[in-house]
Amino acid sequence: MSYENLAGRVAVVTGAASGIGEAVAVTLAAQGAKVALLARRAERLDAVVEKIRADGGQALATAADVTDDASVAAAVDRVHEAYGTVDLVVNNAGVMLPHPIEDARVDEWRSMIDTNLTGVLRVTGAFAEDLTEAAERGRSADLVNVSSIAAHLTGFPGFAVYGATKAAVTHLSALLRSEFGPRNVRVTNIEPGVTETEIAAHLDGEGQEQIDGLIEVSGTLAAGELADVVAYVTSRPRHVNLRQIMVLPTRQV
Ligand SMILES: NC(=O)c1ccc[n+]([C@@H]2O[C@H](COP(=O)([O-])OP(=O)(O)OC[C@H]3O[C@@H](n4cnc5c(N)ncnc54)[C@H](OP(=O)(O)O)[C@@H]3O)[C@@H](O)[C@H]2O)c1
Repeated sequence: MSYENLAGRVAVVTGAASGIGEAVAVTLAAQGAKVALLARRAERLDAVVEKIRADGGQALATAADVTDDASVAAAVDRVHEAYGTVDLVVNNAGVMLPHPIEDARVDEWRSMIDTNLTGVLRVTGAFAEDLTEAAERGRSADLVNVSSIAAHLTGFPGFAVYGATKAAVTHLSALLRSEFGPRNVRVTNIEPGVTETEIAAHLDGEGQEQIDGLIEVSGTLAAGELADVVAYVTSRPRHVNLRQIMVLPTRQV
């Protein structure tokens, strides 16, 4: 699909080494945006950037860990040096590590909270001034947070902490509009349903069975279909803010 208004935008996409983030980076670049790709695996980012450039797009690989202050600060410097002020931030990096609560996997709870929630806050804080500055200069400015349908699901034992981090992102997105909206910065929260990516690669045992069962019943979305939604919301006229979007495979109920 083709979207106007994205050419010349300066975007940062976290979790761009695979799945939804990779697809978002490729789609935005194909529409003429300059895209900085953030994730921990440098070689995966390099491969995506190479693909984007081969197709005539502009992209920059910035290996960074969203759970680490210094790593994000260094990435911000690299993005500013290459592209200047950022006007589109997609907080997409996330991990899903389900286990029954009695397993008391403090390590996994910490990883999900640090990545899915504090990571979103850290990256948002790092680029907040860019977004408001860009909007002040009359440019479109967007903060897009990738939450999950898991923010609302209550029938998935083992996924409580993941769902709680995503519920926090959904609520955070709504609350941030009171700070960003009056300054012409849009905030969009996207809640995908089951999407075919690498996210389930970290699962074992019961968690894997639950996801496999869900996929069998629901089918899946493709990462590119979520990227299409991101391109759509960020290419509306700047006074139009799609605040909250749930995107599900038709059969996922
Ligand atoms: N797939 C689904 O069904 C689904 C449904 C609803 C919501 N979501 C959400 O969609 C988002 C993208 O996930 P996905 O499905 O595309 O899975 P994915 O393919 O596993 O992508 C996750 C991305 O996040 C990056 N990442 C993880 N931890 C990071 C960290 N500490 N710092 C920087 N980057 C980090 C990963 O790259 P590195 O490992 O290289 O860092 C990877 O590029 C997540 O927030 C997920 O919760 C997915």
